[in-house]
Amino acid sequence: MLRRGSTNFISIFEESAFVHQTMSLQVLTRQVFICNSPESINEAFVEKAANFERKSPQIRSGLTPLIGDALAISDGPAWAQRRALVEGVLSASRTQALLPEVLAILDAVTADWPQGPQAQDIDMLDATATLSARIIGGLLFGPSFGAAEAAAIRAAIADYQKHTDRSDLPLLLGLPSWKPFRQNTPILRSAGAVHALFERLLAASLDSGSGLACVLRDSGQLDPTALRNELISLYLGGDDTVGALLAWVFYLVSQARDVEARLEEELYAFVGPQLKPAEELARLPFVRAILCEAARLYPPVPMFARQAQAADEINKRKISAGALVVVIPWLLHRHRNLWHEPDLFQPERFLPNARRKLRENAFVAFSIGPRACPGAALGLAEAAVCVAALSHRYQFRLKPGTVVEPVCHHTLRPSPGLPMRVQRRVLPTGVRVPAPRAS
Ligand code: HEM
Repeated sequence: MLRRGSTNFISIFEESAFVHQTMSLQVLTRQVFICNSPESINEAFVEKAANFERKSPQIRSGLTPLIGDALAISDGPAWAQRRALVEGVLSASRTQALLPEVLAILDAVTADWPQGPQAQDIDMLDATATLSARIIGGLLFGPSFGAAEAAAIRAAIADYQKHTDRSDLPLLLGLPSWKPFRQNTPILRSAGAVHALFERLLAASLDSGSGLACVLRDSGQLDPTALRNELISLYLGGDDTVGALLAWVFYLVSQARDVEARLEEELYAFVGPQLKPAEELARLPFVRAILCEAARLYPPVPMFARQAQAADEINKRKISAGALVVVIPWLLHRHRNLWHEPDLFQPERFLPNARRKLRENAFVAFSIGPRACPGAALGLAEAAVCVAALSHRYQFRLKPGTVVEPVCHHTLRPSPGLPMRVQRRVLPTGVRVPAPRAS
């Protein structure tokens, strides 16, 4: 089991794992407790959040050389201070204001995609990874962040991750393959390379006065090292996650002609032949439903863990001090007792009226409680802009014969890639664009 889990941890689960409410395992001296019901997750992550606030020691240790005491791995008063700061930077009004920039970056990244009727073969896994990196980099550092900067960060972070692979199950569980990262020279060296890159980007952003880096700096709450670390943490939080989500959307929609038809209907009925402003694209209900359903079936973060500070109880079961408390959205989101036809792609379940009938806390792609993702609104809005704009312009077809498998590699991604044929859409004749209604 551990050998399989080292390469792709989601492959270890048997069918029975999709029906349990909780699971408790003893791994060497450590208790690993899996919350697999909305109630147990709510109990640990909301009601008893103070006791289950700390990230797992493996994640903390793996990321400390890279991001120091940044929000994603700090706890206690340091976490509370950073959390308030980051929530302010990613506020709802700022998210709205950033969306035109998202559309501008999307246009720049896809400028060499086909403009005429000729189809083009594009690996959409690669394309969505590039897009998400360019968007988060552009939002953090301003317009000077381009293809070269994104590629340099990708290479430097890949080098760092070579030493600290989060998808490695023995590592997450704290088994003997785990090495004390802090004393590990290659890790410190590769973290140093990432630091140097971000320091250069930060300097350019401050010089030009553009990007969220300036907003963070202007808060006056972070010294230069903390500022750099928080930027790396935000970049990591918003890069692979959005890229993986977009890749799954294009894959799933290409496999479901009924969903594709309904998406086209929404795009042509509410958007019309000319693309609407980004803020309006981000609100399209069916596009948003597709995003949530893709994140349900293929949660970009398929597992997250906390460490119990003191002995406790969850779901009336004993939790020992130091235990790892784990949520595996990959299991919960396909739970046989929570979802109707759990393995089917049915975006309609996330449309506003149907969504009210879903079990509370059965969908945890962005986690819940005080440590839930502070970038959820931005991540969903930017992904919605990308899906709406790209689907308005193009049709995506998976290369025949391609078999895609979900593999956990930091995030849950389609493997071995997503080779697609991309073709510019011709506006269907006879499309009626409804006259605007008075509100
Ligand atoms: C599809 C997009 C995204 C998904 C699925 C996602 C998912 C998550 C999840 C599950 C967590 C909780 C992890 C845990 O408890 O261990 C988290 C935390 C976090 N996310 Fe996101 N995220 C997304 C986008 C973003 C974006 C765009 C940003 C920043 C711009 C971001 C920044 C963060 C940060 C800083 C944390 C740590 C929060 C804390 O510990 O208080 N995320 N995210």
